[in-house]
Amino acid sequence: MRLAGKVAIITGAAGGQGVAEARAFAEEGAAVVLTDLRADAGEELAASIRAAGGRAQYFQHDVVDEGQWRHVVDETRKLFGGVHVLVNNAGTISRLSIEKTDIASWDRTMAVNLTGPMLGMKVAAPAMRDSGGGSIVNVSSTAGLMPHHDAAYTASKWGLRGLSKTAAIEFVEWNIRVNSIHPAQIAETGFVREGLPGHAESACQIIPMQRLGTPQECADLVLFLASDQSSYITGAEIAIDGGFSSGATQWVRTRLRRDIAAQNKG
Ligand SMILES: NC(=O)c1ccc[n+]([C@@H]2O[C@H](COP(=O)([O-])OP(=O)(O)OC[C@H]3O[C@@H](n4cnc5c(N)ncnc54)[C@H](O)[C@@H]3O)[C@@H](O)[C@H]2O)c1
Repeated sequence: MRLAGKVAIITGAAGGQGVAEARAFAEEGAAVVLTDLRADAGEELAASIRAAGGRAQYFQHDVVDEGQWRHVVDETRKLFGGVHVLVNNAGTISRLSIEKTDIASWDRTMAVNLTGPMLGMKVAAPAMRDSGGGSIVNVSSTAGLMPHHDAAYTASKWGLRGLSKTAAIEFVEWNIRVNSIHPAQIAETGFVREGLPGHAESACQIIPMQRLGTPQECADLVLFLASDQSSYITGAEIAIDGGFSSGATQWVRTRLRRDIAAQNKG
């Protein structure tokens, strides 16, 4: 029961990673407040956690709206008595090059992926301070560590990585830790289901572990960062990517060199 007595807000909770995080947190004893645009899926998830004996409440919530953030945090305090964990997990993607980027899709991607977590921290952190402190986990991407062929998404996720470090130093005096995680392609998510043709298959060709990650693997990492087991970790950026961001280039090169050597020998 690594989150016994804790209250956690998870955004984007109706999506692939959010569902896994919500279930993992509830199983570890947290009361979970689940927010997402998608009411049916969010209500269903909260009901299933309650049916299994957990404490869960869904709120329809667009993370770009500060007023809605205030509602979510106020209701969380009323329902469960405080806030200890915030997971800024909601995200969107535009999949457009710089040349093709229109200002509406740029603005929406930046708003959801970067302004949303900023507003979440602005509103939830004082409530976390009043609850004795806690942990914020910002879900960035490998697109926040290296370039991806997607202008707004890459810029928003690099921004979130930097914002997380600013938050880590700002909130340290409130006993709140802030870290970012950086997944590569994660199976069973809207992001992968709606990816461009060949999206997942090509990823497996360049990820040293040669497979996609799972929502459960991400939830295990987020749970660790949310819990007191990571009590000395703040301002960190943690890749969860099968070796992609640290070693893909060298791994692909080794495979190419072997292929070229074999061809030359033949
Ligand atoms: N799936 C991947 O391959 C992958 C890789 C790297 C990073 N990520 C990041 O992981 C996070 C979780 O995404 P996922 O993989 O579970 O994908 P997903 O599409 O299954 O879930 C995303 C969820 O966010 C919700 N959402 C979108 N805009 C919102 C808004 N304005 N307000 C509230 N909720 C909103 C969606 O309704 C959806 O339920 C995202 O931040 C994403 O950028 C995903």
